[in-house]
Amino acid sequence: MNFDWDALVTAAKGAMKNAYAPYSKFPVGAAARVADGRFVTGCNVENAAYGVALCAECGLISQLVLSGGGRLTHFACVNGAGEVLMPCGRCRQLLWEHGGPDLEVLTTHGVKRMDEVLPDAFGADDLH
Ligand code: THU
Repeated sequence: MNFDWDALVTAAKGAMKNAYAPYSKFPVGAAARVADGRFVTGCNVENAAYGVALCAECGLISQLVLSGGGRLTHFACVNGAGEVLMPCGRCRQLLWEHGGPDLEVLTTHGVKRMDEVLPDAFGADDLH
């Protein structure tokens, strides 16, 4: 499939504009395509209690579940300059849960599969 990554990055930039990041001053926006074709987005939301900040990916996953769930197929996130950003370690785990090994991720080194971005992942299969 010839995926339109530019459209996904544009959606991530749009989400980034809504970030609440007064402490780090590091706004982040994330966007993903769902298997049924819809897009979900998220932005980071910080807190005066620094440790409870929500990454952009947290909002994205909440929107995914709230809007009916489904499998993520493509993902990208950007910083305040609109540059592609790698998802943090914790958020890679969130992405794994809802995208699995086949999720395509736009990274700073091109498009990679999720099982390259989070090798040897722990997941639902390990629970049984
Ligand atoms: N951040 C994200 O939103 N996603 C990531 O994958 C990396 C980090 C946010 C958390 C915090 O609000 C700011 O970036 C600086 O770490």
